[in-house]
Amino acid sequence: MIQGSCRLWNISILAVVFLSIYNIILTLKLMYSPECPRHAPVRPPLKAAKCDPQRPAYSKNEPIFRLDPRLGRWDARLQYKLFDNILVGERFASLSDVHRTCLATQSSLEKMASLIEVSANWDGPISLATFAASDDELSALLLYILFLRECNAKIREQVSFHFAYPKDRRPKNVNIDLDRLAEMSCANPISALQHLVKQYLTSTTKWRKKLPYPQNHLRNLARKNCQSKFVFLTDVDIIPSRGMAEKLDVFLETAKCAGLCAYVIPTYEIDERVRFPPNKTELVRLANKGLARPFHHKVFIYNQFATNFTKWQNTADPVQEVHVSHTVTNFEFLYEPFYVAPDTVPPHDERFVGYGYTRNSQVYEMFVAGYEFLVLSPIFTCHWGLQVKKTRPPWREHQNNLNRKQFDGFKREIFAKYDKDPLNMMSKRKN
Ligand SMILES: *[C@@H]1O[C@H](CO)[C@@H](O)[C@H](O)[C@H]1NC(C)=O
Ligand SMILES: *[C@@H]1O[C@H](CO)[C@@H](O)[C@H](O)[C@H]1NC(C)=O
Repeated sequence: MIQGSCRLWNISILAVVFLSIYNIILTLKLMYSPECPRHAPVRPPLKAAKCDPQRPAYSKNEPIFRLDPRLGRWDARLQYKLFDNILVGERFASLSDVHRTCLATQSSLEKMASLIEVSANWDGPISLATFAASDDELSALLLYILFLRECNAKIREQVSFHFAYPKDRRPKNVNIDLDRLAEMSCANPISALQHLVKQYLTSTTKWRKKLPYPQNHLRNLARKNCQSKFVFLTDVDIIPSRGMAEKLDVFLETAKCAGLCAYVIPTYEIDERVRFPPNKTELVRLANKGLARPFHHKVFIYNQFATNFTKWQNTADPVQEVHVSHTVTNFEFLYEPFYVAPDTVPPHDERFVGYGYTRNSQVYEMFVAGYEFLVLSPIFTCHWGLQVKKTRPPWREHQNNLNRKQFDGFKREIFAKYDKDPLNMMSKRKN
């Protein structure tokens, strides 16, 4: 009897000791585990994806994205955290050595599907900066990036991704749903995106819509991660004409520019029903039928007017190789062409956040600094859809008004910096 209870006592002690030691071992393991999930939010569990046999398998122990939200670098006003190269295209570095021009662009999740068409037509390196302001949005964004890479070899190879978030919205709990990824169909990237966007928007619509999108921060982030000598800065829904990177290589090899030059690439908007024009002849044919027209022609004509599309369309091209069609002679305030230039051009001023004065203020500074704008032919870019004037939502109007006030200070600084006022901005009260 006594012996029996003594043995029971011993077994209990043994069990307690064993459990304690086991507990300590587990704790130690957790502490030193390289995969402590609290601090590695962007490391999804492994799950093989079906659909494309080419889809890369993710290793369980390697993070897919190089993104620790506690790190990153600050912008000049400590408003945003910026992350370079969170995921680098397999050939981004080697393509940057081969090609003279890097396409720098920025996109929110909503527009990200355009990257498929951009990369289809552009064979050089692409530097893309993107933005998210909530855990849900970032989770969806990273998931969609993986989806694009898995379904599209060109995106996987050419694109280097960068990221920014606003300081008050540091991502805390990011969870990439790889089960979901396996179910997304490569055949339908647009509807896959719409599903994702719908899901995260339900929780965030109100504040997210009003939160200014830091366009210029993202532009600088994309630009400065380009490694080629020339940068072609676009918005992600601006689609380059086919084979543009190689054609620019040939042109830029011999292009002689004595001073400060930017090469303008004309931008058209095209009817949703047409095929993407394979060449300038076809584009001009579409324009003559009213199925293509200069970008923002109806919405805001100053946007591209100085490019002189009439001249561009009517001048017969002496050669099919890229060449300068003409020089911009009637530069006007608010002109904002997409251009190719060495990345020594002035930065995009980051006091402009949200809509209004983001690109045209930078082009304005170039003009004051003495840049010449040379229009190239027969290459071009297109934006899908003929744009019509819509009333702006109030939040957008509000952002525009704030930026207009910022512009008053900006133009005075430009005047002080260059001591020139070619457009008489200092005597004008309007704009
Ligand atoms: C331009 O594209 C059209 C339509 O595909 C084609 O018929 C034409 O031959 C092309 N022209 C040139 C110069 O490549
Ligand atoms: C466009 O070019 C034509 C022909 O050279 C010229 O007459 C016209 O003034 C130009 N317009 C602009 C806006 O540059």
